[in-house]
Amino acid sequence: MKPAAPGYESESLRRFAEVLKGRRTVELFLQTAIPDKLIKEALEVATWAPNHHVTEPWRFYLLGPASISRCLDLCEELVSAKKGAAAGVFKRKRWSEKPGWLVVTCATSDDARRQLEDYAATAAGVQNLLLYLWKAGIGTKWTTGAITREPRFAEILGIDFTTEFVVGLIWFGYPKLTPTQYRKALREVLTELP
Ligand SMILES: Cc1cc2nc3c(=O)[nH]c(=O)nc-3n(C[C@H](O)[C@H](O)[C@H](O)COP(=O)(O)O)c2cc1C
Repeated sequence: MKPAAPGYESESLRRFAEVLKGRRTVELFLQTAIPDKLIKEALEVATWAPNHHVTEPWRFYLLGPASISRCLDLCEELVSAKKGAAAGVFKRKRWSEKPGWLVVTCATSDDARRQLEDYAATAAGVQNLLLYLWKAGIGTKWTTGAITREPRFAEILGIDFTTEFVVGLIWFGYPKLTPTQYRKALREVLTELP
């Protein structure tokens, strides 16, 4: 008979699962200031994600008011060109209500396997960040919208798309509203092999 596994059920583990499952992508934010120190702590936590060969491929860009304003100009311009001036103004207003702006990039690599692994590590880092912030009461939205591939976006960030690419633009702030979500039951996505 196999010896019994050590007991693992605990209140703190249950609470941890609640944080992991409870994090939601937030659309609407309060205009409350977010402590800069907390964001820096979250970024440091992000860098402890698993990372094959410890390449540390991530870079973080925390945007201040002048850079955000340039992003809003670009957003309005891109949307206006595609959907008309009214749509551009509307989207600018919506984006101007996102309190915090952070961009996460990953180093490009000529080696396809390394590129995949570096992207995976950077995505894991983003998840660390999102969960840490969520536990601190801060909601986020991870977006990979068209602006993140726009050369002028790279210009605002001061980056070169040949050496790094955007994994996500992350908006953050205290949630005004927390949406609900669903997931498939585990049995629909799990195969247990003999
Ligand atoms: C790589 C990545 C890119 C995403 N890009 C967008 C996006 O461009 N626009 C958007 O509305 N949501 C985006 N999301 C957020 C997802 O829509 C969201 O995670 C999904 O609806 C599940 O909701 P939840 O995060 O609350 O569980 C992105 C998420 C990931 C992981």
